Amino acid sequence: MNVTRRTFVTWASRGLAGLCAGGGALGAARFARPLQVEDLGARVSLGPLSALPPGTRIHLPEADVHLFHEAGGLYAISGKCTHLGCSLLLEPDGFACPCHGARFDLEGQPRSGPAPRPLVWLRLSVDLRGEAWLHLDQPVRPGTRAAS
Ligand code: FES
Repeated sequence: MNVTRRTFVTWASRGLAGLCAGGGALGAARFARPLQVEDLGARVSLGPLSALPPGTRIHLPEADVHLFHEAGGLYAISGKCTHLGCSLLLEPDGFACPCHGARFDLEGQPRSGPAPRPLVWLRLSVDLRGEAWLHLDQPVRPGTRAAS
């Protein structure tokens, strides 16, 4: 087959345009997708401890973890229901599961509904620079608080 210079340039430019379009679509899909827990490392920075004053109540949606700072210190509780893993809703007096109605107190202890176990508490630490860290792979005994 004889390929003229014009034909070659046409094919090459079409191929390059296709590659660019595909790469752009992949890049857009990457950024359009919500951040997943598996995108996070096992240790997640929470920023400076000074930015988490007593009274703080934050939900970290990427990890589905609720962070509290009370007089006793800083603590983190998984927002996943221990029944079938639905994401819990934080209410003034505890957590409520929208799936099958389980309820937990603010310490993660089950109060009613089908959830068989307390919520999982996760380790928090503060480094020498005053930066707070959440350790997603390190469950701790319920009630464990990081000194603040
Ligand atoms: S998943 Fe929460 S009660 Fe079923």
